[in-house]
Amino acid sequence: MRLEKIRLDKFLAHHLGVSRTIIGKELRAGKVTVDDEIIKSGAYQLSLDQIVKYEDNEIKPVIGYRYFMLNKPQGYVCANQDPEYPTVLYFIDEPMADKLHVAGRLDLDTSGLVLLTDDGTWSHRITSPKYHCEKIYLVAVAQPLTTNLIEMFNQGIELRGDKEPTKPAKLVIIDDYHAELTISEGRYHQVKRMFAAVGNHVVALHRKQIGHIQLDIAEGEYRPLTQDEVESFL
Ligand code: URA
Repeated sequence: MRLEKIRLDKFLAHHLGVSRTIIGKELRAGKVTVDDEIIKSGAYQLSLDQIVKYEDNEIKPVIGYRYFMLNKPQGYVCANQDPEYPTVLYFIDEPMADKLHVAGRLDLDTSGLVLLTDDGTWSHRITSPKYHCEKIYLVAVAQPLTTNLIEMFNQGIELRGDKEPTKPAKLVIIDDYHAELTISEGRYHQVKRMFAAVGNHVVALHRKQIGHIQLDIAEGEYRPLTQDEVESFL
């Protein structure tokens, strides 16, 4: 099979996230090798089976879509940039990490499962209300939980400012102050607003599952999704 070729400066600019002008300077300074040979010309035609190094660090070509799970700690924003807080990309040590986006955000003070991808069609399956993707949260609340909430959440809750009540949600009470809640929508601050609507207050929130994907890594860690996990949304 003949591999497609790409200009070296284009490959570097794309993978390092800088302009071709900057790449041109780095090339002329002799900082780039291809198969251990210094290459100074940006027009060099690179084949993707060759080994490219910048300042001795290998730059592996990114081919195809990427899918990751992250166990987000509190205090990080689900965005690619934020003027005030560090973002989830702080944890992602991948080339072109800024090309990834979050499929279903968590609040700054919510921890747990975040999915990141550069595949917009795939993330749409998770976030679009059309697909009813289930998300499971562990919730800690300020006031004791009562069993009548199970039916109320199952019937749907009127949220202030929303036209429609929430879709049936499954509440499993763990103890007086802790519960597991499964919802199939992704409205703004939905879990916090659902508990506020019944006179309670969420003091801690953690997402443990999205669809069939279960969080199984430590806080602050990330890993690529398996093929089965990716395909579970297709
Ligand atoms: N619901 C919330 O209120 N916050 C989240 O971060 C996720 C769901």
